[in-house]
Amino acid sequence: MTNELAGKIALVTGAARGVGAATVAWLRAHGARVLATDIRPEVERLADKDGVAVLVGDVSEEDVAVRSALKAVEQFGGLDILVANAGRSVNKPVTETTAADWDEVMSVNARGAFLQAREAFRVMRDNGGGAIVTVGSFASTVGLAEAAAYSASKGALAQLTKVLALEGAPHGIRANVVAPGVIETDLLDTFRADSRAYLRSFGTAHPLGRVAQPEEIAEVIGFLASPRSAFVTGAVVAADGGYTAA
Ligand SMILES: NC(=O)c1ccc[n+]([C@@H]2O[C@H](COP(=O)([O-])OP(=O)(O)OC[C@H]3O[C@@H](n4cnc5c(N)ncnc54)[C@H](O)[C@@H]3O)[C@@H](O)[C@H]2O)c1
Repeated sequence: MTNELAGKIALVTGAARGVGAATVAWLRAHGARVLATDIRPEVERLADKDGVAVLVGDVSEEDVAVRSALKAVEQFGGLDILVANAGRSVNKPVTETTAADWDEVMSVNARGAFLQAREAFRVMRDNGGGAIVTVGSFASTVGLAEAAAYSASKGALAQLTKVLALEGAPHGIRANVVAPGVIETDLLDTFRADSRAYLRSFGTAHPLGRVAQPEEIAEVIGFLASPRSAFVTGAVVAADGGYTAA
């Protein structure tokens, strides 16, 4: 626990569970106030009158992204940190991937991140700066078989983030991508009931011999969101147990 982010206001998308929920906890533990958003109403359990407000909505809808940035400003007085974390995955061979699968994944991982980042950028630009962290994947840099839409969306997210860094630099806005390896979360629960065990089974693909816990990824997100990383921008920061080192 530190107070290094005291006075800072953060917005975390996809905050109901997994990496998003761990990031809300990290930011709170370091003194920030947080607007936690998610399409799942379960995000409401994070509400805390001392420092966490919530908004339920689909981040791929422009209106939700606009209202989220507005709510952070209205409720807490500004917006200094965006963690664009909301994500979906469809895991199928390319020949079985439907247009609807493609659109669904791209709409959350690329369009949703773009909309929320644009709205946050506008507030940060007018308030003298901020930090944007997008949650990519090892699939931001290497292809992931049976995840065509997901890999394409995470590649797009990395490129979007680099542009945010370039356009943000004159305004004191930094933007970076965290690119995790496999994390033990419920990401694939729409495909399989044993999604956590299934994801854990990918441990051996990582040189460190295991998958990540959400809290380990939240640490890296927190570093990139805080002034500790003041000279880091436009970077794709791997947190993948060495997956992309080979
Ligand atoms: N789990 C992994 O192995 C892994 C690996 C690399 C990167 N990631 C990325 O980490 C991020 C967090 O994923 P996670 O593993 O915590 O999974 P998760 O499914 O536990 O969390 C994702 C959250 O995003 C929310 N969400 C989905 N669609 C949304 C929408 N349209 N609008 C608003 N919220 C929406 C979900 O409701 C959920 O709460 C994602 O961007 C994911 O792609 C995950």
